[in-house]
Amino acid sequence: MPRPEPTPLARALGRVPSGVYIVSTLREGAPVAFVGSFVQQVAFEPPALVLAVARDREQLADLRKTGRFALSILGAGDQGLMSPFLKRLPEGTGPFDGLTVARTKSGLTVLEDALAWIDCRIAGEHDAGDHVVLFGVAEEAHLAREGDPRIHLRKNGLGY
Ligand SMILES: Cc1cc2nc3c(=O)[nH]c(=O)nc-3n(C[C@H](O)[C@H](O)[C@H](O)COP(=O)(O)O)c2cc1C
Repeated sequence: MPRPEPTPLARALGRVPSGVYIVSTLREGAPVAFVGSFVQQVAFEPPALVLAVARDREQLADLRKTGRFALSILGAGDQGLMSPFLKRLPEGTGPFDGLTVARTKSGLTVLEDALAWIDCRIAGEHDAGDHVVLFGVAEEAHLAREGDPRIHLRKNGLGY
């Protein structure tokens, strides 16, 4: 059956651009991560960002428990860095295996080959229906190289 046409609202939402990030935190001391795009800076002082996580995403519990997340900010040409975080991995392996990583002072794993990374303390959360918005205060950051970030444009507001 053909899919129904996205509504004007869904199409308009699809014109809200974002970047692409590897969102990392810890589960029992080991790094876990996923590709995120619902991210925006929301304050200058303190420097703060929001990250929306699907309510049923398994890493949500890890984020809440750890109380921190790091964003590895992908550069315009960094599409390849995303793939390990999008496929099912064999038992006993992690998405960072084989990638060049760094550790933030708080112990989170970030991608050394990303454009930059930012480590945030989670200072609150807000219910957003099928997502939970985490409010993160940026506490440490590193700019690895100059260059443009990867821009993510969606077909419509019905998906990432
Ligand atoms: C470009 C892109 C952006 C995404 N942005 C988010 C996001 O902001 N928040 C979120 O919870 N999941 C986001 N996801 C989904 C997660 O990365 C998800 O773990 C991954 O797609 C695997 O899906 P599954 O766990 O539902 O099988 C995004 C996925 C892609 C491909």
